[in-house]
Amino acid sequence: MSNLTPPHKFTLQDLRAARSAGHKVAMLTCYDYSTACIMEQAHVPMLLVGDSAANVILGYPTTLPIRLSFLIELTAAVRRGAPSAFLLADMPFGSYHASLASGIRNVCRMVQLTGCDCVKLEVADTHTKLVRRLTDAGVAVMAHLGLRPQSVAVLGGYKAQGRTWHDAQTIIDQARRFQDAGAVSILLEAVPPQVSEKLVASVSVPVIGCGAGPACHGHVFVTHDALKLTPHAPRFVPQLADVGGIMRDAFAKYVQQVESGAYPAPEHTYAMSSETPAK
Ligand code: KIV
Repeated sequence: MSNLTPPHKFTLQDLRAARSAGHKVAMLTCYDYSTACIMEQAHVPMLLVGDSAANVILGYPTTLPIRLSFLIELTAAVRRGAPSAFLLADMPFGSYHASLASGIRNVCRMVQLTGCDCVKLEVADTHTKLVRRLTDAGVAVMAHLGLRPQSVAVLGGYKAQGRTWHDAQTIIDQARRFQDAGAVSILLEAVPPQVSEKLVASVSVPVIGCGAGPACHGHVFVTHDALKLTPHAPRFVPQLADVGGIMRDAFAKYVQQVESGAYPAPEHTYAMSSETPAK
């Protein structure tokens, strides 16, 4: 294949085909243009601009404070960097809760201003109508179930969900209900593998797991956790590289070079134009 061949644009059809063929799909969170360019080069098929940006970009302890306008800016930047990825935009806390009309308006704003392929909503039972209306309007919706970090106050902490069969069945029933309402995919966070196995068998849409075991059709986690850019990572996150360590060493090296006078060296300076007479 020539280097000039544009990368294949990964679509919902590809995600569905992957489910049917038993191929697993990789998804990563991404929050900025430069990283999106690198992920595009690495052919990461699915990217999520998660509201976890509240934690890893803005430094908040929860995802609740992040604003819709800020997530829209980040999502548009990731779209520019990764035109081939199937791009998911997270709808932040409060942007789809006040009313059906304002939820639809905010989702349409996200879609129009970012060029995302799908929006992700942390859904409760009351959201089936919203998902139906968005689907009817032509918006692809991923329903986020299991651990829903925007509901941390109600859940009583960031804890695995569905650990009893009663709770597991509730999540599976919700997945069916949101599939029936039109959701094109389910994101299942922090449940035991037995739950995802049963849920995957109960729905026909692709299921993306986030700490939900091997039965899911694809997997996602917060990229910063896998690159050691955060101090602690949940147990399900693979350690892909110590980018945090590389950055720390590089910054320390720069401080040392400045303090020792080694930087800037002659090769880091501009030459005078030969036509400019020295005064
Ligand atoms: O906000 C986020 O990054 C997420 C993933 C962890 C699934 O929702």
